[in-house]
Amino acid sequence: MTKPIVFSGVQPSGELTIGNYLGALRNWVKLQDEYDCVFCVVDLHAITVRQDPAALRKATLDVLALYLACGIDPNKSTIFVQSHVPEHTQLSWVLNCYTYFGEMSRMTQFKDKSARYAENINVGLFDYPVLMAADILLYKADLVPVGEDQLAHLELTREIARRFNNFYGSFLTEPQAMLAKSARVPGTDARKMSKSYGNSVLLGENDDGIKKKVQEMYTDPLKIRKDDPGHPQGCVVFAFHKIFNENYKEREAECKAGSVGCVFCKRQLIDALSAFMKPLSEKRAELMGDKAYLEKIIKEGSRKARETAAETMSHIRKALKF
Ligand code: TRP
Repeated sequence: MTKPIVFSGVQPSGELTIGNYLGALRNWVKLQDEYDCVFCVVDLHAITVRQDPAALRKATLDVLALYLACGIDPNKSTIFVQSHVPEHTQLSWVLNCYTYFGEMSRMTQFKDKSARYAENINVGLFDYPVLMAADILLYKADLVPVGEDQLAHLELTREIARRFNNFYGSFLTEPQAMLAKSARVPGTDARKMSKSYGNSVLLGENDDGIKKKVQEMYTDPLKIRKDDPGHPQGCVVFAFHKIFNENYKEREAECKAGSVGCVFCKRQLIDALSAFMKPLSEKRAELMGDKAYLEKIIKEGSRKARETAAETMSHIRKALKF
């Protein structure tokens, strides 16, 4: 029996955060046995904002190393780099011609990003969702694990697939979003964790970095003295304990009882986060030191991805009688 196909991607722009890990990578690892998974590093999407080419290349390898370090297994899943499979740009051109300006104008991510990058509102930034649709439709993905912020893009993908199928017969698969059920952590300042807010805890942060981030974390403003009873629910430190510390119930009880202060609680979190990051950082450093191995994974993965992509593109060419 063939397994349902899963496709997802991460942009190699800057470093991945703990949020990326909890919302994406950690779940992807678990999907690998049940589904036929295709995981992409979407470097073509990354150039919709200015990138230094050398830094982008390094970031691409780094995301790949993190995929592997987190447990994505190239023997089970296809792992590849978007720009290495030319069918992504080929299909996105075709899909452009089946996507309306009006529907694209409603995409909120474009509105946000064009406000943030006002000096470079390029057409690629506007067209970003169509390239994303091409990514997904090329592999006939059934399921796309994404965060809530990508649901509008996925709905657009479904609409484009439906439209194309109406014209030319059904051969594109309408994908379903697969929303991560996982716990989420806030940023250090209790807002949503986002690289643009500067409140992220990075994946692979070193000991000093972890210390600094935990020290920055907002705690319960009503717990001023060590023996004031605290309210763990609204506390950033506790949100992290809940995920990274198996003894979080103890921290919760102590906090509520006012038997320990926030400094102690933060120290406990520094230890828990360090224990979580250490093996990941070591594996990642080892992989980043073996570029030849990473290149081999990319080459092999992209070759495998291209087989499927080329087959879909050939159907499209036939449909259009090119
Ligand atoms: N737009 C996604 C994000 O910013 C990344 C992405 C590109 C993606 N292509 C994709 C995600 C295809 C899922 C499927 O998170």
